[in-house]
Amino acid sequence: MKNLMEQMNEEVMCAFTACGYDGKYARVTVSNRLDLCEFQCNGALAAAKEYKKAPMAIALETAQKLENSPVFSAAEAVKPGFLNLKVKESCLADYLCQMMESEDYGNEKTAHPKTVMIDYGGPNIAKPLHVGHLRSAVIGESIKRMGSYAGHHMIGDVHMGDWGLQMGLIITELQERKPQLSYFDDGFEGEYPKEAPFTISELEEIYPTASGKSKEDEDYKERAMQATYELQHGRRGYGALLNHILNVSVTDLKKNYENLNVSFELWKGESDAQPYIPEMVRKMKEDGFAYISEGALVVDVKEETDTKEVPPCMILKSDGASLYNTTDLATIVERMENWHPAEIIYVVDKRQELYFTQIFRCARKTGLVDADTKLTFLGFGTMNGSNGKPFKTREGGVMRLSALLEDINGQMYRKISENQTMSEAEAAETAKVVALSAVKYGDLSNQASKDYILTSNGLLLLKEIRDRIYCIQL
Ligand code: ARG
Repeated sequence: MKNLMEQMNEEVMCAFTACGYDGKYARVTVSNRLDLCEFQCNGALAAAKEYKKAPMAIALETAQKLENSPVFSAAEAVKPGFLNLKVKESCLADYLCQMMESEDYGNEKTAHPKTVMIDYGGPNIAKPLHVGHLRSAVIGESIKRMGSYAGHHMIGDVHMGDWGLQMGLIITELQERKPQLSYFDDGFEGEYPKEAPFTISELEEIYPTASGKSKEDEDYKERAMQATYELQHGRRGYGALLNHILNVSVTDLKKNYENLNVSFELWKGESDAQPYIPEMVRKMKEDGFAYISEGALVVDVKEETDTKEVPPCMILKSDGASLYNTTDLATIVERMENWHPAEIIYVVDKRQELYFTQIFRCARKTGLVDADTKLTFLGFGTMNGSNGKPFKTREGGVMRLSALLEDINGQMYRKISENQTMSEAEAAETAKVVALSAVKYGDLSNQASKDYILTSNGLLLLKEIRDRIYCIQL
């Protein structure tokens, strides 16, 4: 099936050749002034040089040839020589019908399937998902689905944040509350209980409490750092606690992602990269890339052409503890070893762009990836409140994703119920579907890298999706 772009290109090409111009000038692109037209062709400007004519004259001639086109409802020549194009509705309708009748809606699978890993979601264990995590999940999932649809082997990895100071903080707070637990007894050699010593709601409360305490109490913070270090260096009881924390959190996370209709092939986390760290570090040192600077182990990643400073990539902290960088690099080793991806795409908040520049350069320089493995950072903007600042709850905290979804669901349900044409159950089900579509549509209709404003009650989104639905119905 010929896609729409091909059909448009052919049509404009015919117009160009009919007027005696080379068809190579007839390239149609998506308009960069969507307020004026849907598509455009700038070919007259380029052709003007070859034919020594005014671009506008060429544009006018070709526009005239397109007057009764079955593809375009409008083809307008505008100064200095653009062709502004609008697709005919009957052409769109035919096209949609053809899509419906074709296998896979007319999409042809690639002849060169690649293995692509996509790192998205990125929730932090024991911290609730907040609206910031929504974008990564929604954008990442759609890229993954598009990739699979095109015939690539897409592997989504949730890459949980489960290896940093937050783990040490939770362990420290648990020890404060329940010091008698066997996990804290160094001499304990038996089996640890199968049952976690906390529930998900307790866990969600423990982390902020611990984090708050560590900001006020130096000694507490010291202990949390020590616990992090010991966890990372194989203390048995802490490893068992980490497993409990992970199990409880993953069950909860899966529920949350299911509500978003988002799923992952791999449920790996930063902690899974741990076994790859020692060998990676040893090799970086042996090859002369990693050196000690102010106590920490670093690799230089700046390049001559840099216009902004790119600081060295830190591999280990001065106390030998690994950090966000270490696990990300070791995860690259793990991914290369196990899945040999041709590309790894990271769907992460754009504020981490410099960080990923460091990571990618370090991975290349130290040979963690093959020369032809692509590393792509897909940074997204923040979701802002109506004041233009990162989205917060009325109390000033970060809004939980579940609260946002419930809020939008509720609003939609009320709107649907007002009509009183549906049963309660049907209204609830419809509300769920439309609300989720609204959230996703709101996210995906915005350019990923741009920040955007979400009204606190989600109504803006609902209005937009409702308008869209009306359009489709018409
Ligand atoms: N957990 C991180 C955060 O909340 C995102 C992880 C992104 N992925 C990665 N490989 N670093 O900021």
